[in-house]
Amino acid sequence: MSEQRPEEPPVPDADIPATPALPSLKQALARGRQLLGARSGDDASREASFLLTGVLGTTVGEAALQGDRRLSADEWDEYQQRLARRARGEPLQYIEGRAAFRQLLLRVDRSVLIPRPETEQLVEHVLDWCRGKEALVGLDLGTGCGAIALSLAQEGPFESVVAVDISGEALNVARVNASEAGVAGRVDLRLGSLFEALRPGERFHVIVSNPPYVAEGEAVSLPEEVRDWEPAVALFAGPTGMEVISEIVEASPGYLRPGGLLAFEVAPTVADPAVECIRKCAVYGEPRVAHDLAGQRRVVLAELGASR
Ligand SMILES: C[S@@+](CC[C@H](N)C(=O)[O-])C[C@H]1O[C@@H](n2cnc3c(N)ncnc32)[C@H](O)[C@@H]1O
Repeated sequence: MSEQRPEEPPVPDADIPATPALPSLKQALARGRQLLGARSGDDASREASFLLTGVLGTTVGEAALQGDRRLSADEWDEYQQRLARRARGEPLQYIEGRAAFRQLLLRVDRSVLIPRPETEQLVEHVLDWCRGKEALVGLDLGTGCGAIALSLAQEGPFESVVAVDISGEALNVARVNASEAGVAGRVDLRLGSLFEALRPGERFHVIVSNPPYVAEGEAVSLPEEVRDWEPAVALFAGPTGMEVISEIVEASPGYLRPGGLLAFEVAPTVADPAVECIRKCAVYGEPRVAHDLAGQRRVVLAELGASR
């Protein structure tokens, strides 16, 4: 017969480890500031607040009014994961999965470049050129998440925009964005390298591109957040930075309608070579270079001669 075990004494309540209290919004923000301080410096507070409101699905103003409300376990868990990603250097837009561009809030992930304010300016220049025109047909080369093509379809007098990318993953993101923006019926997404995906005889009123334009040797001078997180195929053009631009400038006359516009973004360092390349083709009017908000030469525009 087995020995009978003495009954275990009841454990007093005080010995049960208490579930650690979940933090209030104010405490969670303080924790975020502390965690991000080393990497983000003066931006730590803004970034912690951005990440927390992303988890809560509130605005910063709404969150400020609820400083004493406690996070749920799921919210705290998700917030801590996002803080850890940011502390490792991941861009906020990838963590949030969204990036603002003109009138759009686009989905982004690591298969696409995060659209930039400079590119919003490129779109503005194209829209200026479109003023007073109707039923245009556009081509966006290297569409990524679709920022340029979708903005043109949404804001400009475009009947249709063909949007090309060499990355199928990027096109999947652009497809979701086109559908969410309500322009999927007018944006034709195609997989291929530059003009490869076009059909014989296709001609456009506007060809626009924010192509890869960083020279491979310049990788070391890029901010870590760009170099380590954004897709290399979106950034690097080749040894000089001019490789993709030259191809676009030289081939576009075969796809532009007479008097059509070629507009593309450049690194300030390749603005001169890009202008030279356009002049050398001898089929465009004199190119114009526009500056970004920081005063850098950023956009090149040229019209194809009207007589072609
Ligand atoms: C600088 S990103 C621009 C993305 C987007 N248009 C924007 O402005 O945010 C360049 C894009 O070009 C695509 N790309 C690179 N080489 C290409 C090629 N040869 N043909 C088509 N797309 C290309 C990349 O996949 C990337 O999406």
